[in-house]
Amino acid sequence: MKIVFATNNAHKLSEIKSILGSSIEIVSLSDIGCTVDIPETGKTLEENARIKAAYVFEHYGLSCFADDTGLEVEALHGAPGVYSARYAGGAGHDSEANMRKLLGELAGEPHRNARFRTVISLLQVDENHPQKPIEHQFEGIVTGHIATEKHGQEGFGYDPIFIPDGYDQSFAELGETIKNKISHRARAVEQLALFLKTGR
Ligand code: IMP
Repeated sequence: MKIVFATNNAHKLSEIKSILGSSIEIVSLSDIGCTVDIPETGKTLEENARIKAAYVFEHYGLSCFADDTGLEVEALHGAPGVYSARYAGGAGHDSEANMRKLLGELAGEPHRNARFRTVISLLQVDENHPQKPIEHQFEGIVTGHIATEKHGQEGFGYDPIFIPDGYDQSFAELGETIKNKISHRARAVEQLALFLKTGR
């Protein structure tokens, strides 16, 4: 089985390949010659994941899955959520600015519960209806809280300020091996892998 993962993020690609194993061939956007930065115009993680998967399905006629992730902070009513990459404004993906803004918003706030949530949208080619994909969604969540300052050097994004439940260190201190066992993305990918392998 060959399936496109709508990303060019090498880190995500290798993480997913290692969870899925060799029974399923995963190819990236660049592997299929797609160089477009698919715009994430949705208002929810579900919409954005589906938009990315649908782009590949519609333009290349291939089965595809895509993910979208957000950090949801209870005291901020779920913000930054779908806007996590662009929380501090600008072109986005400025992790230092995003963390600074979040720590500022939570200054003096004792209630710091938060969760990372990943949604994966899978669109599969249906041989009987080539225009209409078979659709499935998978979700992975890790709960925790936001630290009062940054800790650790590993990982990316909000990792230095997110402390998962059951640990007293941030994702950036815990490192990749532990993170990949308990993370939102790992949990969503496990659901996807189970479905691709067993149909359930
Ligand atoms: P994306 O949907 O994977 O591109 O994630 C959107 C944004 O959420 C990223 O730009 C990061 O700021 C943040 N994010 C996603 N996954 C993680 C993670 O595993 N750790 C820390 N931040 C993350």
